[in-house]
Amino acid sequence: MAKITFDGIEVEVPDGTTILNAARQIGGGVVPPAMCYYTPLKGSGGKCRACLVKVSAGSAKDPRPMPKLVASCITTVQDGMVVENTINQQVLDVRKGIVEMLLINHPLDCPVCDQAGECSLQDFAFEHGVSTTRYEEERRTFEKIDIGPLIQLHMTRCILCYRCVYTANQITDNRVHGVLGRGDAAEIGTYIENIIDNDFSGNVIDVCPVGALTDKTFRFKQRVWFTKPVNAHRNCSHEKCEGRVTLWYKGKDVLRVTARKDEYGEVKEWICNECRFDKKETADWVLEGPAHINRASVIAQNHYELPVVNPQVIQDLPESTTRELERNPPLKLGGLNG
Ligand code: SF4
Ligand code: FES
Repeated sequence: MAKITFDGIEVEVPDGTTILNAARQIGGGVVPPAMCYYTPLKGSGGKCRACLVKVSAGSAKDPRPMPKLVASCITTVQDGMVVENTINQQVLDVRKGIVEMLLINHPLDCPVCDQAGECSLQDFAFEHGVSTTRYEEERRTFEKIDIGPLIQLHMTRCILCYRCVYTANQITDNRVHGVLGRGDAAEIGTYIENIIDNDFSGNVIDVCPVGALTDKTFRFKQRVWFTKPVNAHRNCSHEKCEGRVTLWYKGKDVLRVTARKDEYGEVKEWICNECRFDKKETADWVLEGPAHINRASVIAQNHYELPVVNPQVIQDLPESTTRELERNPPLKLGGLNG
């Protein structure tokens, strides 16, 4: 086991754990953002730099700081390591730069993008970016590629996180797409315009952090925040699919079916294409109840928890202010109504 201090909080984790996963054991606001790392996908991480942190002491044996910020998703902990994330100004400044870099080529077409409302880049930019841009050059453009009847590829939105490539490699038998080209010319493609067509291909939609891969059967049907997520399951005949999904309703209609995701937006169980694309009737499913979206994104609307005020702070407020806050709370008062 290794004991590390992350943002002043001590946590003990098994040897070999990455800094990011150690932070996730603490949870809450100290966890670094991740745009490419994805727990279920072996080898993911190390591409986007969203998760950079400062290691201010390498280990108990060698407490020297690491000279550069490190990617927390691929750097493993050492006993006695001290890591700074939200308490380090350099990390916060660099993270602003990472947002800016990811947005260099990403179009600002959120108003017409199906991913809007559940886009990790939107959330990342909202939480860590700046509200202005310095970019004046033209953005990259690509030839349109049709990758089949179920999945829409918008290459201009891709941030080259490689998640979809790992997904196709690791959960399907025949990956036909990958990252072609290098540097500025790198793009997701299916060499010689192959169609992505296998029983689990739809999972690339769920892992894509942006709107580069979206569900063609849901395209332009509804903004996701106007749909209601409901957990459901069915007896799926596919040997690798447990049939546990989230149905997204508008009124009585099931507009789309997705895998269930955890608080980090990671798929809990892969689902097959039959469940995802062919079962869009309520009668196909056993409903379990409303799905709770436990990450702060637009799709979690009406589920936002109010930030809790430290009871110590409340004690020091004048009584009239406390009464006013209780009547009309912009915040949840820990220890009073919390
Ligand atoms: S298409 Fe999406 S999942 Fe694939 S590399 Fe681009 S951003 Fe990542
Ligand atoms: S999440 Fe660590 S580099 Fe992308």
